[in-house]
Amino acid sequence: MKGIVFTEFLDLVENKFGLEMVDTIISQSELESEGIYTAIGTYSFSEMLQLLQNLSNNTNISIDNLLLVYAEHFFSVIENSYPGLLATYKDPIEMLSSIENHIHVEVRKIYPEAELPTFIVESKTEKSLVMIYKSSRAMHHFGLGLMNKTFEHFNSTADIVLEKIKEDGTEVKFIINKN
Ligand code: HEM
Repeated sequence: MKGIVFTEFLDLVENKFGLEMVDTIISQSELESEGIYTAIGTYSFSEMLQLLQNLSNNTNISIDNLLLVYAEHFFSVIENSYPGLLATYKDPIEMLSSIENHIHVEVRKIYPEAELPTFIVESKTEKSLVMIYKSSRAMHHFGLGLMNKTFEHFNSTADIVLEKIKEDGTEVKFIINKN
């Protein structure tokens, strides 16, 4: 997992819960990095999992809800860091249906070692999109948060329903209906 995902996560934890919470979750985790991350580095996903689990234990907020809030923050990082990529799109359904064959393709050019999910478009109309998310990392709520913010970015809203295809969340159907 890319370092930017860790540095932005720890910044958000500091802003919402304070520097003490950052220290607490780092010391409660067994981190090869020792909790020292650079934006361009690459670290084990298990480090993120431990940080999330310990934050969840200390705050009584579920990992899914933490990922949802974190993704909404991460979208503004994307807006600031990759404005050109977003400017390619005029419509949220067009953008979301292009993650797999454009957006994340570009991300992989910037970060060849990025660990990205697979999104398979099942059906698409002007106002609706059904996509299957597949990833061993089961970060579907990170996807949900990015999708919510994608609609907001285009001054729009949508109903987004998640249906787990696999109980462990490694395969999830997203049913998206634009309002
Ligand atoms: C992961 C970039 C749009 C879904 C990531 C990662 C980066 C990235 C850097 C982390 C990879 C790693 O740590 O190895 C971007 C950029 C985008 C974009 C620059 C737009 C310009 C989206 C959108 C979605 C999405 C709109 C909506 C569903 C995900 C998910 C992950 C991810 C779910 C977590 C990894 C996983 O589930 O396996 N993306 N992304 N991304 N992205 Fe994107």
